[in-house]
Amino acid sequence: MSVLSRLALGAGVSILLSTTAMAADLTVGFSQIGSESGWRAAETSVTKAEAEKRGIDLKFADAQQKQENQIKAIRGFIAQGVDAILVAPVVATGWEAVLGEAKDAKIPVILLDRGVDASQDLYLTSIASDQVEEGRVAGRWLTENVKDKDCKVVELQGTVGSTPAINRKKGFEEAIADHKNVSIARSQTGDFTRSKGKEVMEGFIKAENGGKGICAVYAHNDDMAVGAIQAIKDAGLKPGSDILVVSIDAVPDIFAAMAAGEANATVELTPNMAGPAFDALAAYLKDGKEPPKFIITESKLYTPADNPKGEYEARKGLGY
Ligand code: AHR
Repeated sequence: MSVLSRLALGAGVSILLSTTAMAADLTVGFSQIGSESGWRAAETSVTKAEAEKRGIDLKFADAQQKQENQIKAIRGFIAQGVDAILVAPVVATGWEAVLGEAKDAKIPVILLDRGVDASQDLYLTSIASDQVEEGRVAGRWLTENVKDKDCKVVELQGTVGSTPAINRKKGFEEAIADHKNVSIARSQTGDFTRSKGKEVMEGFIKAENGGKGICAVYAHNDDMAVGAIQAIKDAGLKPGSDILVVSIDAVPDIFAAMAAGEANATVELTPNMAGPAFDALAAYLKDGKEPPKFIITESKLYTPADNPKGEYEARKGLGY
């Protein structure tokens, strides 16, 4: 019998089990989006490592960027009677039915790194960054650095309909709103991937007089920024100086680019969403304590002043 069933059946008895004993008994399903970015790969590695550390049996399902695969995986986890489900939702909408099924089966669901447009009763907690703030941090960095200079920005958006794409755009627009010299000239999705980031940036460069009209690229993640850097170099321009590069995630490759003078700023997103998720779950299963609905991770800005070589070295073995 699962820990959760014991909790439900023997309220007041099962809750006396220690957290460690419970963790060792747990089976948790994890519906991961895919492997679109270095950050995503790191989140997957960290989640597996955190589960192993706690003796949790983690059932992993890679959805290859498709919501329908995530829904199938979640239904599979429900059928298996897992104790809890982690899901990184690829897009914001379309989750009510399947999350309702998990709720009916009394299986707590924890959202990782992205949000959903659904009733908050359908999940136990959401572990994510403040994605609007990430966009603001990036936008503030740009306005502070270009000062009064006119600056045409091209924007590489994340996956259409995903909360980081929606919110990072919103935050950046908020930050530049009072700076009439800074404007977004072009904006298109690069789907959070390096290859699409490069392809879309090539189009922007062509459309903007060989890139001469572009002052900065704002990418919703580092992988798209790395793709854009390649496109800028291929066009005979210098990323980091001819075209400023600001992005989000803080993956090792962006620090390598920064150390080479080819990237200017990134906003860190921790890949460790699973640690706080498993802690919240353990406390909930131990004594029924509901965690806060939103557990917000930090959004720290890194620039070339922050020892990019050292940051690269410190991160390169962490599964990115
Ligand atoms: O949801 C988090 C975002 O998803 C990361 O910033 C991006 O790299 C990933 O694909």
